[in-house]
Amino acid sequence: MPLLNESVREAARRSVLCWLATVDGDGQPNVSPKEIWAIADDAHVVVAHIASPVSALNIGQQPLVCLSFVDVFVQKGFKLKGAAHEVCADEPDFARWATPLLAMVGQRFVIRSVLVIRVNSVTPILAPSYRFYPEETIEALQADAAMRAYGVQPRT
Ligand SMILES: Cc1cc2nc3c(=O)[nH]c(=O)nc-3n(C[C@H](O)[C@H](O)[C@H](O)COP(=O)(O)O)c2cc1C
Repeated sequence: MPLLNESVREAARRSVLCWLATVDGDGQPNVSPKEIWAIADDAHVVVAHIASPVSALNIGQQPLVCLSFVDVFVQKGFKLKGAAHEVCADEPDFARWATPLLAMVGQRFVIRSVLVIRVNSVTPILAPSYRFYPEETIEALQADAAMRAYGVQPRT
């Protein structure tokens, strides 16, 4: 079974946004949201560096990263850990990694580099209600409650 299996891919599609945590050479953590990201294959996630100077700098100093994402309505997602490296636009590998990201940005943004994460651990993230109130917590009801909390109307 690949690490980045279909259930991780489906959750990634539904999550839209991810959060990328990095650390600098002194161990100072940094976390920031990324919308242009994709699961590239069974073991790699790619993130577009469009405006992420600190993430890119940190990865150059310390490759260990954590990337998490949740479907904010269903309130489930995944936490991925791994080692990252930066692939700049003038490197031969750039096209290989950037392809899914370029499809997302079109002409709107310039991708300065791709942050390529080789994932070595995948852990589910669940809202506590799923664990502590399993009899009464189902995805549809969680989504209804979250929509009310965010003031969002369901699609008709
Ligand atoms: C909703 C949202 C989505 C974003 N998506 C991206 C993205 O895909 N790539 C990127 O480089 N910056 C993105 N940003 C901007 C960075 O998160 C922002 O510039 C941040 O300060 C960069 O921090 P860093 O240098 O610590 O990575 C996004 C910001 C928001 C609010």
